[in-house]
Amino acid sequence: MARILITSAIPYINGIKHLGNLVGSQLPADLFARYMRARGHEVMFICATDEHGTPAELAAAKAGKPVEAYCAEMHQVQADLAKGFRLSFDHFGRSSSQRNHRLTQHFAGKLAENGLIAEVSEKQVFSIDDNRFLPDRYITGTCPNCGYEAARGDQCENCTKQLDPTDLINPRSSISGSTNLEVRETKHLYLRQRALRDKLEAWIDSKTDWPILTTSIAKKWLNDGDGLQDRGITRDLYWGIPVKKGSEDWPGMEGKVFYVWFDAPIEYIAGTAEWADANGLDDAAWERWWRTDKGAEDVTYYQFMGKDNVPFHTLSFPATILGSGEPWKLVDYLKSFNYLNYDGGQFSTSQGRGVFMDQALSILPADYWRWWLLSHAPENSDSEFTWENFQASVNKDLADVLGNFVSRVTKFAKSKLGETVPAGGDFTPSETALIADLGARIRDYETLMAQMEVRKAAAELRAIWVIGNEYLQAAAPWSAVKTDPARAEAIVRLSLNLIRVYAILSRPFIPDAAATMMQAMGSDDWTWPEDVPAALRALPAGHDFTVPENLFRKITDEERADWQQKFSGVRT
Ligand code: MF3
Ligand code: ZN
Repeated sequence: MARILITSAIPYINGIKHLGNLVGSQLPADLFARYMRARGHEVMFICATDEHGTPAELAAAKAGKPVEAYCAEMHQVQADLAKGFRLSFDHFGRSSSQRNHRLTQHFAGKLAENGLIAEVSEKQVFSIDDNRFLPDRYITGTCPNCGYEAARGDQCENCTKQLDPTDLINPRSSISGSTNLEVRETKHLYLRQRALRDKLEAWIDSKTDWPILTTSIAKKWLNDGDGLQDRGITRDLYWGIPVKKGSEDWPGMEGKVFYVWFDAPIEYIAGTAEWADANGLDDAAWERWWRTDKGAEDVTYYQFMGKDNVPFHTLSFPATILGSGEPWKLVDYLKSFNYLNYDGGQFSTSQGRGVFMDQALSILPADYWRWWLLSHAPENSDSEFTWENFQASVNKDLADVLGNFVSRVTKFAKSKLGETVPAGGDFTPSETALIADLGARIRDYETLMAQMEVRKAAAELRAIWVIGNEYLQAAAPWSAVKTDPARAEAIVRLSLNLIRVYAILSRPFIPDAAATMMQAMGSDDWTWPEDVPAALRALPAGHDFTVPENLFRKITDEERADWQQKFSGVRT
């Protein structure tokens, strides 16, 4: 049994996430966590809301609420939606927690002790009309790297380059739109990432098994221009973690807070501490996941995120960890995703374009979305959601293949052979062949799941469903029952057992349908089918089963057209 730590990039607090956000981090992380638990490993799966920074302040102001109240409400909304999508976090924390305040201040203190913080008197954009400094996203302008006109002060959405607000060309205030800006002096802390460059490079170079997408982005920013830049880690904002050196005040930093990207990844650790607190456990309980001097030396740590998050996780956060000089766990494997587009364009939170998590659940159950999103995850390139594709995938894979198998087998069995697993007949070469094929495919599925090859794993799972259907079609128990009832019994016995095995294999993708299948088979034995022939005998002759409710319904053409229309425009 291995110990597996999994974190998903923590979603921003401002507003409900769309399906593109979901498939790039939380959902595949959940798939992996569920699979690893199913294999009997000890898993710690942490996510949280990313609550600080200008987006939160701006959204709260727009909602007319104090930012604390806004964040508390939105955290609950996101937590409920995560439950709705069956995201199996061990804890869903908050980056504004006291745990994160203390840990972030702790890391800053250690970095200062190690000479890795520079106090820099810098010029910052001040908006005369707004009467305030304009950090990060309070400024919009043209990206100096790619020319994108709506780049934000901290990062260009288009080319992913990390920016400083003063880099922008033709800057304007995001609050008032004013261009009446001037540059004033103010003191800020910088993390001396350049001093850590060699260490970071050696560490990245040691990760020979990382996906190309991850490594290429890391390398790009490591070697970009003059190389890795030192990063400002403080901001002139009200909402955030007050700048302190451990528990002590930091002279000259009064009224300033840490930059959101400094404290957000630390929340992975703090979120695990929040988990311990929520469960009445002591510090040792979370430290054994994070401190290699306190039990985490045998933990393997996986991170999941969209490609725009990769620089922060391969450079900035590791710089914090390495620079602390303390034995904190660094990520072992970083799985990153491209973007999911929506129906010929992009998902857009600001324009309300696409399907958002709450809307998705209001029209169909979680499994339908989980299946489509995971089986079309944007791994090797960007991928696109279209309603046609979604309809086809649900109707074919889920309804025609899996759902149909389950309903045909159980309905036939019940009407012709009774409501227990039938006893007659022996396996023939066609059963032996199916079992062998299944065995090989399950081993392949395991490999793909362990490698986080999400699309390929989904394709293999679908293939596993398909061979069951093909077997049933060829074996035709509905014909056999007329001439050789014992033969029909053997076919049905195997098929009912196959439903239970399908429940186990499918559970990481479609947990609700899996539970329905398992329950219909009158079992609660989720043991992974290491030994496939044995797993296909788990339900013995005489065991009770029931016919489940229709597992999946089909999406009609009218519904498809209706939804396409409904989600094309502006979210209301
Ligand atoms: N909130 C960020 C985003 O959605 C991700 C933060 S990940 C963390 O892009 F590492 F900073 F926590
Ligand atoms: Zn750009």
